[in-house]
Amino acid sequence: MLQWDEIDHCAKQWIKDAGERIRQSFQSKLTIESKSNPDDLVTNMDKEIEQFFINNINKTFPTHKILGEEGFGNNIDTLNGVVWIIDPIDGTMNFVHQQRNFAISIGIYENGVGKIGLIYDVVHDELYHARKGKGAFLNTKKIQPLKNIQLNESILGINATWITENKRIDPRVLIPLVNAVRGTRSYGSAALEIAYVVTGRIDTYITMRLSPWDFAGGIILLEEVGGVATTLEGKPLNLLAENSVIVTKKNLHTEIFEKYLN
Ligand code: IPD
Ligand code: CA
Ligand code: CA
Repeated sequence: MLQWDEIDHCAKQWIKDAGERIRQSFQSKLTIESKSNPDDLVTNMDKEIEQFFINNINKTFPTHKILGEEGFGNNIDTLNGVVWIIDPIDGTMNFVHQQRNFAISIGIYENGVGKIGLIYDVVHDELYHARKGKGAFLNTKKIQPLKNIQLNESILGINATWITENKRIDPRVLIPLVNAVRGTRSYGSAALEIAYVVTGRIDTYITMRLSPWDFAGGIILLEEVGGVATTLEGKPLNLLAENSVIVTKKNLHTEIFEKYLN
């Protein structure tokens, strides 16, 4: 088996196994703690799932490095070699409160180039997956390239917080955009929101602050359907830092920057 076929095979197997562990955990009591603030939750499952991936990766691919949200991976300051960027549960607040609308997200990079993107919607058993240059899929179904859409007929994924207490960008910049689109949605899992742009369920996703593990898998899927992701300054995303993020269709990216984010 070629190395990337083997990595792809293992990553898919492990993400499915991890999903099964999470579904099983619905039967038992969660341990819930707060991290940076009382609303920034982490559970025993976030930690257990990250460690599950790390153990498997270290055993099977000992030269690969891992950047994981819960900090059990390596201290990464370069993207040299093969790096797995993992969010064991994206949407932990949803996991705790709703037992749905969360996902496992994995992006696998080689020297900074995205090779494999995986987002697993555990509750729906829906695996969004892509390999660079080979298209994006939802389970076995190929996802079609994104089609242009008019801004006034589009759906924008945005969290209301960014309109009410936005510290990085003047809310008056975002209000006209919110008014211009057909409607807004907020799902509480960045990975799923990017997967929804990839599948055309929403057309744009905007957020002021994401960490690399929130978008590392999604942007590999996005590239395969011809979408675009940048910071809100229009710069490339940095996989080693926090970023503001816009994920959208090419024509909407141009129009939004011309009319609203200039
Ligand atoms: C969070 C979710 C949320 C986004 C936050 C992320 P977590 O991830 O993706 O939708 O708005 O910025 O931190 O903490 O549940 O993995
Ligand atoms: Ca996350
Ligand atoms: Ca997480």
